[in-house]
Amino acid sequence: MKFFERPFSKKKLTELTPDLAAEIRRSFEDSAADEEHFPSTIDPRIYHVKVILDWLGDIGGGRVLDVGCGKGRFARLVKERHPAATVVAMDLAVSMLGYADANLARAAGSMLDLPFAAGSFDGAYATESLEHAVDIERAVGEICRVVKAGGRIVVIDKNAAHWGKLKTPQWEKWFHDEELKKLLRRHCSHVESKPISYWEDVEPDGLFLAWLAVR
Ligand SMILES: C[S@@+](CC[C@H](N)C(=O)[O-])C[C@H]1O[C@@H](n2cnc3c(N)ncnc32)[C@H](O)[C@@H]1O
Repeated sequence: MKFFERPFSKKKLTELTPDLAAEIRRSFEDSAADEEHFPSTIDPRIYHVKVILDWLGDIGGGRVLDVGCGKGRFARLVKERHPAATVVAMDLAVSMLGYADANLARAAGSMLDLPFAAGSFDGAYATESLEHAVDIERAVGEICRVVKAGGRIVVIDKNAAHWGKLKTPQWEKWFHDEELKKLLRRHCSHVESKPISYWEDVEPDGLFLAWLAVR
């Protein structure tokens, strides 16, 4: 069963039990075949792409991590922009990684326990993936741990103020602006955020927020 077909529950899941972790992984492994809801490409004009590229800046031959990359649609565009960079596409679901371009470095794993050394990336971003981590504090800590001092971090996710606007699986969490800023500030020297829409010239409706941080 795909996660968006699951029955809703009023009870939020706050503890990542082994059973829940296995359920989340299974759900995304199954979802890779669903190209409509988990697309392998993204229109490069979508503003989310520009927000990531602009914040990462000139990474030259550096290393960038796409956390919860899905099929690697953002990572492909980061690599296109920075051909000399090593772009690591990492995801929980091996079936998702199967769609990622061969010129990306691919890694399977969980953002709760990233399989990378501290400070081993110049930048990292997570688009609509942190919302599935359940233990958000730990995931944010991990993302920050693997980025070196001065490195850039982008999180694009949904705004808790709009909770209920879309169907969500039981484990999904959306974030209040200040809530995520507070977590990022524990590890980062600078944190800001802004509402974004899919198109730069369309007024954001507030559903998506981009958190931009400097480690
Ligand atoms: C909605 S998709 C977004 C994929 C991609 N970031 C994009 O925007 O196309 C969420 C992705 O997060 C991944 N994911 C969920 N929990 C994860 C975790 N704990 N660690 C790493 N990836 C995770 C899922 O497997 C899935 O591919």
